[in-house]
Amino acid sequence: MGEKGGRYHLLTFGCQMNKYDSEKIEGLLAREGMTATAIPEEADLILLNTCSIRDKAEHKVFSKLGILSAAKRADQLIAVGGCMASLRKEDIFRRAPMVDVVFGPDAIERLPKMVGDFRASRTRQIDVAFDDAAAWDRPEGGARESDVVAWVGIMKGCDNRCSYCVVPDTRGPEVSRPADSILAEVEGLAAKGYKGINLLGQNVNSYGKGLAESIDFPGLLRMVDKVEGVERIRFMTSHPKDLNDGLIASMVECKKAAPSFHLPLQAGSDRILGLMRRGYTAAGYLEKIRRLRAAAPHITVSADIMVGFPGETEDEFLDTIRVMEEVRFDSLFLFNYSPRPGTPSAEWQDVVPRAVSQERFDRAMLLQRKIVAQNNALLVGTVQQVLCEGAAQRPGAVFGRTPGNHLVVFEGYPSLAGRTLPVTITSFSGYNLAGTMVCGE
Ligand code: 5AD
Ligand code: SF4
Repeated sequence: MGEKGGRYHLLTFGCQMNKYDSEKIEGLLAREGMTATAIPEEADLILLNTCSIRDKAEHKVFSKLGILSAAKRADQLIAVGGCMASLRKEDIFRRAPMVDVVFGPDAIERLPKMVGDFRASRTRQIDVAFDDAAAWDRPEGGARESDVVAWVGIMKGCDNRCSYCVVPDTRGPEVSRPADSILAEVEGLAAKGYKGINLLGQNVNSYGKGLAESIDFPGLLRMVDKVEGVERIRFMTSHPKDLNDGLIASMVECKKAAPSFHLPLQAGSDRILGLMRRGYTAAGYLEKIRRLRAAAPHITVSADIMVGFPGETEDEFLDTIRVMEEVRFDSLFLFNYSPRPGTPSAEWQDVVPRAVSQERFDRAMLLQRKIVAQNNALLVGTVQQVLCEGAAQRPGAVFGRTPGNHLVVFEGYPSLAGRTLPVTITSFSGYNLAGTMVCGE
């Protein structure tokens, strides 16, 4: 990067995949001798790792870019990476002329060079090409969000063409990471004392496709399950059409696989699911949940749901409500549909007015709050094995997660991080639980 050192300010928007990429960016910049600063005015390099999944996500980035641009010093550099880089490409320079570097998710490795090239030539740099061979390895000593639970990328991109989704355009085609590279990262993390491993990909169930070796996701799960020191494994995201008995069997067999499952539903109407090109029906989805619960009775289930998809009628929205009532999701991510450029559904004319979509959103949210309160009330008084992740915001308190992935805050010292402790659940607020460590610990 030319001269060594300097300070960077990194802002991350969007999903876990972006957070994972940001950790890699931080590792690469540390290798260049750069250090992080929370104050943008102090930074030599400002980076935004961006998200395009909904219109609101892009708005947030452009408004932040406006603020940063107004305060930009002549010797400061602004770089925009992530999904908006892939989707908007050169347009970012037009809409935010103070931006100097645009780098897609597969160009992260080349970011230090791009910054150096900009400094040397003062010409804008852009690299948004997809690269099947983009490196999976991460620099030693790279930042991690937690010292206890780590995310590990196992595949990237997506070959499903849901009619509403930009991800195939922002992250490119599916590419699986070789199993030995995954295993090396997991073993390295376990050696450093990590207890929780979250396997990450846009579509983890199709792991293995295209690799020279013969391996699938259940096979990978079994491999990670054998790594000494690892105590809890989670994975996301799964596609309902690919959830089969083989995967369920491997989850039951792998003792470290945590009993929680994220299975995006999107909608409860078969007509809407067809228009979304999801490849399953509501009955098919419910049958998979039934099989999952039959095999693992204590498993918690979370999902993503969208309301206001083009043409969604009141009755079709009520189909979604019915599925919510039947499954009683332990946790739910609810979204208003947002048309995305380049996707088929963005061209459809039967738009649901925003006010109607928002009203459906509010009704679904109300129902979900009721379900969560009822589910969480059942947990009060139970003892949960909580993997402590570190200090909570409240002084004297720590936080961790139950096997079912509920967040629990309880009194304790930060030195408990990494330990799995019995905690009696005493109360809850929304999704979060509060508890007390069982005496004797
Ligand atoms: N509008 C609203 N929500 C969307 N999602 C994906 N694309 C869109 C869109 N165009 C939601 C889906 C997905 C989650 C990550 O984001 O529910 O599962
Ligand atoms: Fe993540 Fe999708 Fe947003 Fe990209 S567009 S950051 S993959 S949620």
